[in-house]
Amino acid sequence: MTYYYKGFPQSERDEKIDMINLDELERRVKDIMPEGAYYYIASGSENEWTWRNNTSAFNHYQIIPRALTDMDHPSTDTEFMGMKLKTPVMISPIACHGIAHKDAEIATQKGAAMAGALFASSTYANKSVEEIAAAAPEAPRFLQLYLSKDWKFNEMVLDLAKKAGYKGILLTVDALVSGYREANLRTNFTYPVPLDFFTRYLGGKGEGQSVAQMYAASAQKIGPEDVKRIKEISGLPVFVKGVMSGDDAKRSIEAGADGIVVSNHGGREIDGAPATIDVLPEVARAVNHQVPIILDSGVRRGSHVFKALAMGADLVGIGRPYLYGLALGGPQGVASVIEQLNKELLIDMQLTGCKTIEDVKHADIRNIHYDRDDWPSNTDPRIRKAYPVTKENQIKPSEDAHTGASAH
Ligand SMILES: Cc1cc2nc3c(=O)[nH]c(=O)nc-3n(C[C@H](O)[C@H](O)[C@H](O)COP(=O)(O)O)c2cc1C
Repeated sequence: MTYYYKGFPQSERDEKIDMINLDELERRVKDIMPEGAYYYIASGSENEWTWRNNTSAFNHYQIIPRALTDMDHPSTDTEFMGMKLKTPVMISPIACHGIAHKDAEIATQKGAAMAGALFASSTYANKSVEEIAAAAPEAPRFLQLYLSKDWKFNEMVLDLAKKAGYKGILLTVDALVSGYREANLRTNFTYPVPLDFFTRYLGGKGEGQSVAQMYAASAQKIGPEDVKRIKEISGLPVFVKGVMSGDDAKRSIEAGADGIVVSNHGGREIDGAPATIDVLPEVARAVNHQVPIILDSGVRRGSHVFKALAMGADLVGIGRPYLYGLALGGPQGVASVIEQLNKELLIDMQLTGCKTIEDVKHADIRNIHYDRDDWPSNTDPRIRKAYPVTKENQIKPSEDAHTGASAH
């Protein structure tokens, strides 16, 4: 079940993951992954204030349940930029999936396709854009671009993505340099598996490089003209990833952006940035339905997806949880993570009378202040309080009983 790439252990699993919630995956991954790799994924920057608040800030908003809605069988199917998706959950770009699984992004793409989710693969993927596309030719996918100082490199990346049938580009603008990630410094983290674009173009292998070195290869100076140029070269829709204010959303649209990704990079860049859900209303007002909005950072629950959609997002991205799913279950593990979020989302949809994702976008959300609403949930990995499961406390179901939170 474990493959070793030059001594680095990579999972070879392909199995569904039995889980109660996404938070518990982090704990389980810690047991199977080298510590440096686990810290690289799990950590945030500096004091991890932003990382911590990304999830708990969802508590600032409340969902009003609806009565007498005369509705059943809700569906998470949705359409996004002409793509038919089975879920509003997007697989956000993460570098080097080989850290979690031997088949890296090929496995992730298969899992995303199984779940009918949009997959945005990273510039710093281990596998080539062609290999990823071939893993599920019909599946919808975006490519994330870390703009390079070298436009020949940018042109090559955009050209290959277009030829391989990618449907859009996410231009990441919030990571001009790496955030100050202390965990990486403590473990001397370097990428353990070669990264395709580095092997292909830059001569080096991309393996054995530190995160700071990787960022040094990319452009620190990105402006509105770059958005225009990327659009022209690729002919693809360009989303600006890392927008955290209404003004920047407007600037992006003026520069020609076809969409906005509200993201603080999962709390890995500026520590002290607000949680994405807290700036979403401002961004949504500024965007005013001119272009679609994707939100990520801290999403761990179906109710988080629900709130983000109801507050202005069209899709909701997840990062770390699917990488944990990849390590714990390969392609099927990635699908399990999305299915878990869908399962929770469907419960919320039934309880609010939302039959479709479009209905969720019009759901009633309030912003009532509660003292201590920033306290983490009891499933938060920092609290690590899970209801203990022992042999003794198992309830023996009768033959025809259904278990689980909801059986529609
Ligand atoms: C290990 C790791 C690597 C990442 N690599 C990239 C990347 O290559 N490009 C990018 O735009 N964002 C990258 N991100 C940010 C994610 O796209 C996403 O914004 C973030 O993970 C969402 O937060 P979450 O992990 O709390 O769900 C990375 C995040 C993690 C955790």
